[in-house]
Amino acid sequence: MQTIRQTESLREAVAAYRAEGARVALVPTMGALHAGHMALVEAAKRPGTRVIASIFVNPKQFGASEDLSRYPRKEAADTRMLKEAGCDLLWMPAVEAMYPDGFATNISVAGVSEGLDGAARPGHFDGVATVVTKLFNQVRPDIAYFGEKDFQQLAVIRRMVIDLDMDIEIIGVPTQREDDGLALSSRNVYLDEEQRARAVALPRSLGVAAKAIGRGDDPEAALQTAREALIAAGFEIDYVELVDATTLAPDGDPGQPRRLLAAARLGTTRLIDNLAIDAFSIQQS
Ligand code: PAF
Repeated sequence: MQTIRQTESLREAVAAYRAEGARVALVPTMGALHAGHMALVEAAKRPGTRVIASIFVNPKQFGASEDLSRYPRKEAADTRMLKEAGCDLLWMPAVEAMYPDGFATNISVAGVSEGLDGAARPGHFDGVATVVTKLFNQVRPDIAYFGEKDFQQLAVIRRMVIDLDMDIEIIGVPTQREDDGLALSSRNVYLDEEQRARAVALPRSLGVAAKAIGRGDDPEAALQTAREALIAAGFEIDYVELVDATTLAPDGDPGQPRRLLAAARLGTTRLIDNLAIDAFSIQQS
């Protein structure tokens, strides 16, 4: 696996992949890699495809109150993991190369980015959309892989790609979980032992609510039960909401795919998770 830090060298490497007739897949990350990221790389590894992973801790998606300097950085371990996973190229641009002096462009995706995490973290999705656009323009992939754990991010990127005529297929990869159900996240390392034990209330309460809504129970009552379970476990809730799985509009239509999304804090650590509402359970009830 080659590691590249300069745009010119990246362009040459991608041109060589194109010359051999390969499709180019991109797995964008901010590093501190875990099995969730490796599932993206695994999904990207297809015959005739070259896999490029990017690591860039994007300052533009961190709010003023979010500690960018505290974000875990594990370059050596990340490089080893990507190499062992069979990634072809690691793209690691420097902050100065990504955002040179005078950088003045902002990509903002209205609607889908505005509620939920968009409301709790103002500017976050502008930062994500801007850096993902830059990564797409630098790598020019045919296909890009994102985790479903960041479900709103995935919805924002899907909307952006349609709106801006980006000829890139976007694939959402299911959330990878610990044995007890906690979604894998680079932020889980911030949880102390007691918080880690309590954190399982997040996937469990969402699971109970998703099942109840799927079998036709009153959604608001199911959401309220989930909120109460989270508070009892010591969480401070940002939101627990039922939304349309594409537009993320509140409630959603039971005839269309719907998703349950939650964000809540244990101490200073903010966890997010989401689950699909299984349409089959509605038909069976
Ligand atoms: O999901 C992430 O790790 C980041 O938000 C992304 C997509 C790499 C953009 O910085």
